[in-house]
Amino acid sequence: MLDRLLVIGGRVLDPGSGFDAKADVFLEEGRVSRVGEIMPSSIPHDYMWIDATGMIVSPGLIDLHCHLRDPGFEEKETIGTGTEAAACGGFATVCCMANTNPPIDSPETVSYVHEKARREATVRVLPVGCITVGQNGRKLTDMEGLARAGVVGFSDDGRPVTDAQVMRKAMESAGCLDLPIVEHCEDASISRGGVMNDGILAGRLRLKGIPVAAEEMAVARNIDLCRITAARLHIAHVSTAEAVALVRQARRENLPVTAEVTPHHLTLTEERVAGYDTSAKVNPPLRTLADIEALLEGISDGAIEVIATDHAPHMAADKATDFNSAAFGISGLETALAVLLTAVVGRISLPILIERLTAGPARVLRARKHRRVSPPNLIPEGLGTLLPGAPGDLCVFDPGFEWVVDPSRFVSKGKHSPWTGTHLKGKTMLTVVGGRIAYRHEGINFHAVRGSGKSDAGESR
Ligand code: DOR
Repeated sequence: MLDRLLVIGGRVLDPGSGFDAKADVFLEEGRVSRVGEIMPSSIPHDYMWIDATGMIVSPGLIDLHCHLRDPGFEEKETIGTGTEAAACGGFATVCCMANTNPPIDSPETVSYVHEKARREATVRVLPVGCITVGQNGRKLTDMEGLARAGVVGFSDDGRPVTDAQVMRKAMESAGCLDLPIVEHCEDASISRGGVMNDGILAGRLRLKGIPVAAEEMAVARNIDLCRITAARLHIAHVSTAEAVALVRQARRENLPVTAEVTPHHLTLTEERVAGYDTSAKVNPPLRTLADIEALLEGISDGAIEVIATDHAPHMAADKATDFNSAAFGISGLETALAVLLTAVVGRISLPILIERLTAGPARVLRARKHRRVSPPNLIPEGLGTLLPGAPGDLCVFDPGFEWVVDPSRFVSKGKHSPWTGTHLKGKTMLTVVGGRIAYRHEGINFHAVRGSGKSDAGESR
């Protein structure tokens, strides 16, 4: 860890505190000590500093939804490789989903994730625990035990909880623990066997569709259950206009409902699979332009508070097969910010975009009002902001940097991306986690002020 780090000359964009101006960020002992202005000639000699002129300095990004595949699917990703990919993308905190092997359905597996993260993670890892044992949809996990071991929410992501009574009980327990249920909303009774969006294109391609109604019915049911349990409900990867409308209405009623959308659902339509390209096969499936419009509107008006990657790495062989058999998922941590800067900014403002990647997810994580059990304090004060005392987490990105996506250069083991060969504008240049350099682009140099106050270029770590 660098004891004292100074990032000077950038546009500091901290939506959580409302700060947006050219300024310098001081980190001391792993925390933000101040955001202010300093004359280059008066940089204190005990600081390492970097010049962020022309760049944007935001709090480290927070991904509420990614798959690190560890334990059990280490051939697809590990906590080490997945968090390195996160750091490359500007993420300082990631929440990892529970569909591992074994699933994160016992305090022992929660402890495994924490211990492995302590040893090999480049960024902060916050595990999500299963709702049901083995994600079987029937028997609830020991949710209190999982909370004590340190989970930040509960989800059977990848497998929706089909039985409404099981979900009701899960919400009652999660409500007592004041932790969110993060639900993959899909009514499997009408989506089973589907591989893409249901509609005319699916018919033409002779592929089975996943109807919009599968998401809409599940979102409606879960909001109804939220209404009778008052538990916090976070809806994962919303993909349809209908679901956005339901979430907006629930929030108008002051129900504790939040939702996330992914970069791929915000930018790509079902047309992307017209050539049977398995890199764009994802669940929920890519939808239509009208859905994208509604998702963007939801982001703009606050109905959707979070953008999350749903980074879902697979082995090449899982994707190098026919469309029906290929695995669902996109390797998205290393492209998320750049895709959003390239294709979404302009439709929504940069401050709102960064809000949905920092303060928005932090609100979902921090919303706890009471604690019946006292799990480890996983979520530092000020997470997702640059307020004094907040964790020293930074994402420094160059909005003008142009590059072409080449998944063979991903550090993630998942090399499948629907943006392969796409020209993107904007790139993470530096990621700092708790004052420690997690990622540094080769174009970033560190400087140290020596003796008389003269600065020299220095080494990075
Ligand atoms: O595309 C997806 N992949 N959607 C999910 O819900 C699960 C994920 C995975 O685990 O591969």
